[in-house]
Amino acid sequence: MIDIEFVRSRFIKHFDGQTGNVYTSPGRINLIGEHTDYNGGFVFPGAVDKGITAEMRANGTEDTVMAYAIDLKDRVDFKLSDPDGPKASWARYIYGIAKEFQKLGVPVKGFNIAFAGDVPLGAGMSSSAAMESCFACGLNDIFGENKVSQWDMVLAGQATEHNYCGVNCGIMDQFASVFGKAGCLMRLDCRSREFEYFPFKPDGYRLVLLDSVVKHQLAGSPYNDRRNSCENVVKHIQEKHPEGKFETLRDCTWEQLEEVKDIVGDEDYKRAKFVLGEKDRVLAVCDALNEGDYEKVGEMMYKTHEGLSKDYEVSCEELDFLNDIAKECGVTGSRIMGGGFGGCTINLVRNDLYKQFIATAKEKFNAKYGHEPKVYDVVIGDGSRRLV
Ligand code: GLA
Repeated sequence: MIDIEFVRSRFIKHFDGQTGNVYTSPGRINLIGEHTDYNGGFVFPGAVDKGITAEMRANGTEDTVMAYAIDLKDRVDFKLSDPDGPKASWARYIYGIAKEFQKLGVPVKGFNIAFAGDVPLGAGMSSSAAMESCFACGLNDIFGENKVSQWDMVLAGQATEHNYCGVNCGIMDQFASVFGKAGCLMRLDCRSREFEYFPFKPDGYRLVLLDSVVKHQLAGSPYNDRRNSCENVVKHIQEKHPEGKFETLRDCTWEQLEEVKDIVGDEDYKRAKFVLGEKDRVLAVCDALNEGDYEKVGEMMYKTHEGLSKDYEVSCEELDFLNDIAKECGVTGSRIMGGGFGGCTINLVRNDLYKQFIATAKEKFNAKYGHEPKVYDVVIGDGSRRLV
């Protein structure tokens, strides 16, 4: 986690010398259940021990926000009443959360904020959700008497992505960041929003991320296209079955998907096929975890990778390569994690294989791409909170 004193020193230096309160929110991993959240399915995320830490303080103005991104050394001031908001992409997360909180009735006024992060950007670990929930946590404390519920913080984060950042994301990332609990993964039903904490201490195994350091860009983009494909399939299934109620792919069966195959076209069909398969895989992983069957968990992870790569088409050469290395090394499970288009693979590795796997992955990746992947050992941490 980022050192509080480091953030504080910048907050003092860049504003009026006073201190504020300090908040932190984590990034996340996801064991399985990818691109299922906006399809009403299940996800299996956990918060990590890396995230965003921000110092914040009301500055006495009606609506002027003074913001400093410590890692970028970038200062942006803007007014909450400005209908367009700031241009800098990082500042739009602050603007978006503040506007969404105002919509909830929280009397957000001007404030100062400085923040830094240690969750890698573009690695598929949800640095953006970490920002949103961190800022939400702070505004809730400073202006909202902490009356905004955790779920409303999650939804304000998601609405920020939709309304100010151009990404029609689901709720997994913001959920994991707000609700995370050390040592636990969480199984969330994205339709009912019911969830369960799952203590995760796989005896004899560990989770490790390999970051390809290829950047993904979700905005405006391939991510939204995937979502549109899923919605298109649902629309056609609904048309075929006016007697039923089909809101998301969660409500659709394999048979119904086959019925519309020719109408929706190959691309949308393949995407929906992945989602239906992923829905089944998450449930299979839950059973396997209950039985302590990690080999089965791993098998499902490989299947997910294949689907994400061939049917959902959100992988890339580097991630497929990392996945192949994992397979060759006998790693139990491996797959691309998060939205895709770059970022990390998540790997379930037996302890006795760990060293050799990491060494081989570094060597082979370096030989092919001229740099080593970054290695992050997964430590499952707590969700959004005030530190000071
Ligand atoms: C991104 C989105 C999430 C989810 C994942 C894919 O991280 O923000 O809502 O859809 O991609 O599982």
